[in-house]
Amino acid sequence: MADSKRRITEALLTLIMNALRKATVEDIDLLKEMYLTDVEPHQERATVFATDLTSIMETILCIRNDSLCGTSSWAIRGGMDDGVVEVVGLGVREQYRKQGIASELMKEAIEQAQVTFSEKDYTLRRVFLFMELSNEIARQFYNSQDFKEVATIPLFYPSDDASIFVRELD
Ligand SMILES: CC(C)(COP(=O)(O)OP(=O)(O)OC[C@H]1O[C@@H](n2cnc3c(N)ncnc32)[C@H](O)[C@@H]1OP(=O)(O)O)[C@@H](O)C(=O)NCCC(=O)NCCS
Repeated sequence: MADSKRRITEALLTLIMNALRKATVEDIDLLKEMYLTDVEPHQERATVFATDLTSIMETILCIRNDSLCGTSSWAIRGGMDDGVVEVVGLGVREQYRKQGIASELMKEAIEQAQVTFSEKDYTLRRVFLFMELSNEIARQFYNSQDFKEVATIPLFYPSDDASIFVRELD
């Protein structure tokens, strides 16, 4: 009971304090700043990162007090009749973690994808993603989001195997 109350309070606080919205090309500088601060101080790669997120995939931003807290990105894989989407990226900046933000970003990504499919009379059936096998926190997060760990690919990443997670929506 106490746990469910805590979850409801957290969800409400997340809703009140954070704004979720789709990223556009106007957000390139915001995304670049996040990459330069949190990943590496490399201007060219920051530009590629920010451009990819706003052009070749759909990205959702979580904003609190004009600061970018985290992002989720998704893309359709295969034909619309397959009903499959990949979550290509998900990250919450360190100081904003464990506050329900990734859960909100994931929920929003799936809802947006579902709308995209249903507007064209298709159904989103599966959401999948790859992650580094050794990423225990991400594993716990995806388990909490009803994803099932279904397969591994040896040496998929330069220094780790990949784990594939799938969530069934039908
Ligand atoms: C994984 C990540 C996105 C989670 O973001 P978050 O906003 O902190 O996650 P949430 O607050 O929505 O957590 C939801 C659930 O995930 C699990 N979880 C999240 N962080 C956890 C942690 N540090 N330890 C254990 N479980 C954790 C819990 O089950 C949590 O539910 P609870 O708060 O009721 O215990 C974040 O840690 C991150 O950005 N990590 C670095 C990038 C990354 O690994 N991305 C995913 C790889 S593809």
